[in-house]
Amino acid sequence: MTAEENNYDYGVVRYFAIATVVWGIVGMGVGLLLAAQLAWPALNFDVPWLSFGRLRPLHTNAVIFAFGGCALMASAFYAVQRTCHTPLFSNGLAWFVFWGWQLVILSAAITLPLGITTSKEYAELEWPIDILITLVWVAFAIVFFGTIAKRKVEHIYVANWFFGALIIGVAILHIFNSLALPVSLTKSYSVYSGSIDAMVQWWYGHNAVGFFLTAGFLGIMYYFVPKQAGRPVYSYRLSIVHFWALIAIYVWAGPHHLHYTSLPDWAQSLGMVMSLVLLAPSWGGMINGIMTLSGAWDKLRTDPIIKFLIVSISFYGMSTFEGPMMSIKTINALSHNTDWTIGHVHSGALGWVAMVSMGAMYHLIPLMFGRKAGEMYSVKLINLHFWLSTLGTVIYIASMWVNGLLQGLMWRATSIDGTLTYSFAEAVEASYPGYYARFVGGAIFFVGICIMAYNVYMTTQGKTREEPAAPATPMLEPSSQQGVPA
Ligand code: HEM
Ligand code: HEM
Repeated sequence: MTAEENNYDYGVVRYFAIATVVWGIVGMGVGLLLAAQLAWPALNFDVPWLSFGRLRPLHTNAVIFAFGGCALMASAFYAVQRTCHTPLFSNGLAWFVFWGWQLVILSAAITLPLGITTSKEYAELEWPIDILITLVWVAFAIVFFGTIAKRKVEHIYVANWFFGALIIGVAILHIFNSLALPVSLTKSYSVYSGSIDAMVQWWYGHNAVGFFLTAGFLGIMYYFVPKQAGRPVYSYRLSIVHFWALIAIYVWAGPHHLHYTSLPDWAQSLGMVMSLVLLAPSWGGMINGIMTLSGAWDKLRTDPIIKFLIVSISFYGMSTFEGPMMSIKTINALSHNTDWTIGHVHSGALGWVAMVSMGAMYHLIPLMFGRKAGEMYSVKLINLHFWLSTLGTVIYIASMWVNGLLQGLMWRATSIDGTLTYSFAEAVEASYPGYYARFVGGAIFFVGICIMAYNVYMTTQGKTREEPAAPATPMLEPSSQQGVPA
């Protein structure tokens, strides 16, 4: 059946897809300003609401929840309809999710620069916004699971399991980590204290990585890679093992953020061991994603959307190798609090999260404007964007690795009399070349998303730059069955 026959609700998907690009520019633009401030501190301008400390949470919230969140919601609402062969459970409620989420983003953009914050990383928003998030998220759950309940096919395609885990996981994390006592409209205090507060916060923080930045984007991978490659998932059985293993293990790994703290030693070691175990399902999933291209490897030469998707999965593999290594206590003693962590974050964030989202949006956006999948205004510009993103990511993370090792080694160096060899300021000074390089890498990545915005705008205007307009991607016939998303 075609989309028209099924009366799919694409309006809300279209809005979320466009919002992804808009918030991507805003969030990464702020990231670039932060990178510039670390290289040239005068760029704080002595204006409180432009200071690094206030803009940093604005960047993380904008890229993770605005850019990433909109990409996830666009993809989940699109894929669940296609794979369940039915329109959304409630189009009206889906629109509430869209406008409610935009209101959350707007509230964050106003309150964070004003310095209104809970000070819990990735959960900085104050209690009234937390309540709004809860309402929107419950509506998201109702629309998503309602659509699954009224599906016209028996099978629930694996991408939906990952999107479902995102929805349930984030709901639990958000509610428990945000429990707080309000003392005014803009200030609340966490109900937890001391080590327990830290433990709950990093149970949240790590699982925000696990369920938001990983499970959700794996849902995108399992839907869009087979679609764009025109091939079934390499091993559907492996995708199910991947799902259950990931869900079962991720929740135990949070304490690796709290090594050498007042958290009990056994909890730190448990976090370390579980993080090491996590390597197995992560790499199983990576191999499954990449091998889906089996029989269609030639597309890596011709189709820039496939390049985005496959390279993003490679970065997923890289960051999920690096993460377990950084969880080992002796390695963490070197990496913690250094730019190494920032490099690890952005190999996941730029290489995996941003690039897989961009690939998915290039597939999806033309479809939302009456074209064929992937039929953007200019394929050459997608290709250019791909190379800018890859180059930008590599420069960003390589400079942060060098800085991280440098800082870790300088901080721990001792002279023969037992005193520290270097002062902290000397380590900062030595980090400057890395900060300049990171700014260059970030700028290259940022130019890429600006080119994407132009390409998207021209596509929405029905324009075509080159002939043929799109790489030849044989689209599969709709099928509900395993391994081949509809
Ligand atoms: C043009 C692209 C980007 C640039 C230039 C950039 C730059 C930065 C900078 C300068 C910081 C502060 C680092 C520090 O405190 O030392 C940062 C932090 C962070 N960024 Fe980005 N960023 C970009 C894109 C992204 C994206 C797309 C994501 C997520 C999807 C992301 C997620 C984060 C996170 C989670 C942190 C906090 C890391 C931590 O606390 O360890 N960034 N970014
Ligand atoms: C098997 C998978 C992974 C493991 C075991 C892991 C482990 C770690 C470790 C040990 C740290 C450093 C903690 C510290 O010293 O403070 C860290 C930080 C971080 N990782 Fe991962 N990582 C994994 C995958 C990922 C992926 C795929 C992403 C992103 C897309 C990601 C995002 C982050 C972020 C945002 C932080 C910084 C948290 C903060 O301090 O603000 N990680 N991770």
